Amino acid sequence: MSQGEYKPRGKLITFEGIDGAGKSSHLADVAAFLGNHGRTVLVTREPGGTPLGEKLRELLLHQAMHFETEALLMFAARREHLERVIEPALERGDWVVCDRFSDATYAYQSGGRGLDRLKFVQLEQWVHPHLQPDLTLLFDLPSVIAGRRIAVQARDLDRFEQERADFHERVRHAYLERAAAAPQRMQVIDAAQAPEVIRKLIQETIARHCL
Ligand code: TYD
Repeated sequence: MSQGEYKPRGKLITFEGIDGAGKSSHLADVAAFLGNHGRTVLVTREPGGTPLGEKLRELLLHQAMHFETEALLMFAARREHLERVIEPALERGDWVVCDRFSDATYAYQSGGRGLDRLKFVQLEQWVHPHLQPDLTLLFDLPSVIAGRRIAVQARDLDRFEQERADFHERVRHAYLERAAAAPQRMQVIDAAQAPEVIRKLIQETIARHCL
């Protein structure tokens, strides 16, 4: 692009779903797909995405804490992420693909932990009053199947993955409730399908909504 040429603001695409729904394996594919369509892509994640955010992630995933502290730290990490990474990238015209965003706080901290919905709305209004993702891909899977997928992974589980099936079922329902309230932005993907089918579906969805 020559100097001074106008480059429109980039778009924010987020990935959501309960633990074990398989969203993370599709992030690199989406980045490559967008790259093939001429977009400069930044892949990032929450909690995390900045040096401070990654430190908060370590605490959030492994340190026991009050559920409101958990919600506040999720939004603290997000504030930093927006300021240092997401907003500058969108301003430059880059596309941001983010593994989880505020829908995760709605689903996990409100749906799963029971944080007052009003407090969630207040935090969201505080941290990003004017920004919502342009597109959110919600990987939906019954929690029993997702739980089985996690159980076969030979690694230490974090605080969320260790939660019982009823927690994950509440998270799932909160995600679906949020998707029903924002059906344009949030596209529900049946994550029980074969990876190849999901990949094609995601590309069609992005092409339809964003390109
Ligand atoms: P996850 O994407 O599952 O990381 P990984 O694939 O490496 O396990 O995210 C980490 C966890 O953080 C996940 O269990 C959901 C949780 N989480 C919240 O509870 N609230 C939030 O706002 C965010 C962003 C994540």
